[in-house]
Amino acid sequence: MDDREERCRDILEGLATYFASPLVADVLAAVSRHPEPDLGAALNRNQFTSKLWLADALATAAGARFGTVTVLGGWFGVLGAILLADRRLAIGRVVSVDIDPRCAAVACTMNGSHLEGGRFAAVTADMLGWALAGPRPGDAAPDLVVNTSCEHLRRPAFDAWYARVPAGHLVALQSNDYVAIDEHVNCVADLDAFRAQAPLAEVLFAGARPLKKYTRFMLIGRK
Ligand SMILES: C[S@@+](CC[C@H](N)C(=O)[O-])C[C@H]1O[C@@H](n2cnc3c(N)ncnc32)[C@H](O)[C@@H]1O
Repeated sequence: MDDREERCRDILEGLATYFASPLVADVLAAVSRHPEPDLGAALNRNQFTSKLWLADALATAAGARFGTVTVLGGWFGVLGAILLADRRLAIGRVVSVDIDPRCAAVACTMNGSHLEGGRFAAVTADMLGWALAGPRPGDAAPDLVVNTSCEHLRRPAFDAWYARVPAGHLVALQSNDYVAIDEHVNCVADLDAFRAQAPLAEVLFAGARPLKKYTRFMLIGRK
């Protein structure tokens, strides 16, 4: 570890102590144990802003109580960590699914404080084949499917995935207009285009959030 890395580590340790924050301690463990260059992108300001936006909307517009939250395209597990740390939300467990085999180990460290209690699991799988159970009628804590990686699914694969989400299931979706990134094969120009791509029977939240280089779009509701 060079001087600069050691300084960053010391600062994160200090912040974890000051805020008594398991989340900051887990982030520190993830960046210390996994020399993964993309962690910087997964933990940058835009990412935290977008994920906190989702947590805020779930807390204020979607009932705040959930059974299993399945995060598809969950990357390094940052969204799971943010949702599980949020005291406004009551979540049974988070399952983070990503096709990239590098992600699961990092996601588990990123959610280390929730692993032992079984509140977090990470799976390496293609979301296009991931089976989603239908909504449980009358349940006070509905399951939730989250996909903040809609821009990563080329059409018609996105349409095929969305068609497999059971009718009536609670979903939280994000996409964006950040066409400059090669992996973004399904950007949308605006919120109306996103609504057309992922129609909901009941909309609980719909919004656009301008960030530094792009705008992120979010839809929460029942399919
Ligand atoms: C860059 S990341 C997250 C981007 C997203 N805008 C966000 O902020 O959450 C996109 C993730 O989607 C994953 N992904 C892409 N296609 C997938 C698929 N078919 N099944 C599961 N994960 C997938 C990638 O491996 C990657 O980890």
